[in-house]
Amino acid sequence: MSVTEPNPSALPDLTPARTGAKAFRDLVSDPAMTRFRMRYQFALDEVTTKISILRKEFEEAHDHSPIEHVRTRLKSVESLFAKVDRIGCPPTLEDIEARVRDIAGLRIVCPFISDVYWISDMLTAQPDVTVLEVEDYITKPKINGYRSLHLIIQVPVFLSDRTEHVPVELQIRTIAMDFWASVEHAIYYKYDGTVPTTLLEELHHAADTAATLDQTMGRLRNEVRELGT
Ligand code: GTP
Ligand code: MG
Repeated sequence: MSVTEPNPSALPDLTPARTGAKAFRDLVSDPAMTRFRMRYQFALDEVTTKISILRKEFEEAHDHSPIEHVRTRLKSVESLFAKVDRIGCPPTLEDIEARVRDIAGLRIVCPFISDVYWISDMLTAQPDVTVLEVEDYITKPKINGYRSLHLIIQVPVFLSDRTEHVPVELQIRTIAMDFWASVEHAIYYKYDGTVPTTLLEELHHAADTAATLDQTMGRLRNEVRELGT
């Protein structure tokens, strides 16, 4: 495309701070933006259905559910542009599509660590699911103690005139990991990022305690299962 031609997917300077409230409101209701975000919602709907099928099938055959709860979120336009600005992404839909891969987000919370990997294995084995990225913060926790299995998968969304391949971010973790992450997030937010060192140490210790709990509960469950019911 030559520089003189208008790029149909080019968006105005969208950073909320720069656009002001009115321009930002216009952007939120811009049909191009609405269409753009819709496909991520469709991808979330698809992956939610996949998980629901796996969950029900598993529950039929086992003595527990592999999923405690699932949360989905479509990134708001405001936080999308905060991220676009933060990562220095040009404000065009093409660039945003290529560089922001957590517009559709799904968090799956499981009772046991074995369930986390079971869900991940089952989803990623499906022929219409492409794995773009895996970050295993369970085997390799973050420096602060954060544990979770992160995946970016891509699923096809069949629209009336074309097929879009849409990325979805998955965070799969245990109840204990999720409890820790929600408290840590709240503390981080409260202190505006500058958490006192003693609190950070306590949080790290709590993360290790949660990990020990996960291991113990998994082991106990296996022992009871071996006894037979
Ligand atoms: P973004 O995707 O821009 O957030 O950065 P990234 O890709 O470098 O981060 P990563 O994939 O590691 O984490 C993505 C998401 O995981 C975050 O938005 C959080 O929801 C969650 N997460 C990651 N690290 C932490 C953490 O230390 N504490 C908590 N509570 N959540 C975390
Ligand atoms: Mg990320």
